Amino acid sequence: MSTDAPGARDSVQGWRAFPRSPVSLPRPVMDAFEAFLKKRHPKATSRRIDAATADLSEAFTEARGSLPGSYLNQPAVRSAYLAHFHPQQVLRGIAALGEVYARASARKLWPQRAEGALRVADLGAGLGAMSQALLCRLARGDAPTSWPEFVLVDHQKSALSDARELTVAVASAVAPDLPAPRVRTAVERLDRWVSRASRSGWRYDVILLGAVLNEIQGDWQPLFASILELLDEGGVVVVVEPALLETSRKLMELREFAKDVGTSIAPCTHDAACPLLATRKDWCFTVRPAVFPRSVGRRAAQMGHQSAEVRFALWAFRPGPRAEVRVADPPARVVSDPVLRANTREQLLCTADGTLRVPPLRAARRGDLAGPAAAAAD
Ligand SMILES: C[S@@+](CC[C@H](N)C(=O)[O-])C[C@H]1O[C@@H](n2cnc3c(N)ncnc32)[C@H](O)[C@@H]1O
Repeated sequence: MSTDAPGARDSVQGWRAFPRSPVSLPRPVMDAFEAFLKKRHPKATSRRIDAATADLSEAFTEARGSLPGSYLNQPAVRSAYLAHFHPQQVLRGIAALGEVYARASARKLWPQRAEGALRVADLGAGLGAMSQALLCRLARGDAPTSWPEFVLVDHQKSALSDARELTVAVASAVAPDLPAPRVRTAVERLDRWVSRASRSGWRYDVILLGAVLNEIQGDWQPLFASILELLDEGGVVVVVEPALLETSRKLMELREFAKDVGTSIAPCTHDAACPLLATRKDWCFTVRPAVFPRSVGRRAAQMGHQSAEVRFALWAFRPGPRAEVRVADPPARVVSDPVLRANTREQLLCTADGTLRVPPLRAARRGDLAGPAAAAAD
């Protein structure tokens, strides 16, 4: 990564990062995924999954255009997605939503309803990874007394039918005593469903977009603007995308487009212009240590992929009047690896006043929060 961020300020001593613990899937959730795979795809041998995973992996990165729009409707592809990509996507979701939930709750920005369940729309739901990650996050800490209700929207019918069952299975795995959440599905293209929802006056408290915008060709802004209109007052939208340059930068542009009409909850620690966007080559993403299920880690290592961390680009946003910045918040986010510049090793932090160059912070990864050495972690 280049450190030639316009406006980057000189090296400052005395900062530290707040490294985060690895994310993992609760054991009962892994068991639920395995049981579902065996039940729904009895012909999915390890060898077939390995081969389909390798093909899909290539299609997701190098040759995205070659991916047919209905890829999850093909059983061999869907079983590979379920066995390999889905658990990793749930891990990304747990990491992303964990941070969003913590930061939003600390600023009193996590939506609450006086009556009735929280209304969650998972758009481009696929197998429902984001909804399941949200369930895992809500089940942590204080035992939940009720679940949100979900609507899962996708144009791939078979995926949605699996998504519904998996979401109910995950809810039961993480809180066996709670009644199952209400999970509805809509098999429809996003633009059509969003217009229908808007015309019908449907409103949501949380809208989840997991790895779907990158499958939408062209400008994301018109669709995103109409998605924002589906949020009820105080609602939040959470976008999780692959940590690739082009996709992450498009997400950063989306934030720039919307930043004056609301509050960024994560990853940004401020609502000022994105300093990385002013550069040409840099992009904002999070790296989080993760414990992969054994078979997923084995396959990832065989393909030369990361097997002990997840990476993702994140943006969580609440439209409406700008919320106060919490004074106790760590003021900066680590946005580079340590790099050598003019014979000095340094790392870049993103702050409200632009990027800040500091000596490399101990054990810091991209996406970690950072603050003056005396500050407390979030
Ligand atoms: C990579 S998958 C991600 C699924 C899930 N959200 C996750 O985080 O794992 C992308 C999903 O978006 C869906 N999708 C892409 N474009 C869509 C569109 N225009 N309308 C509805 N669904 C779409 C695909 O069918 C697929 O299920």
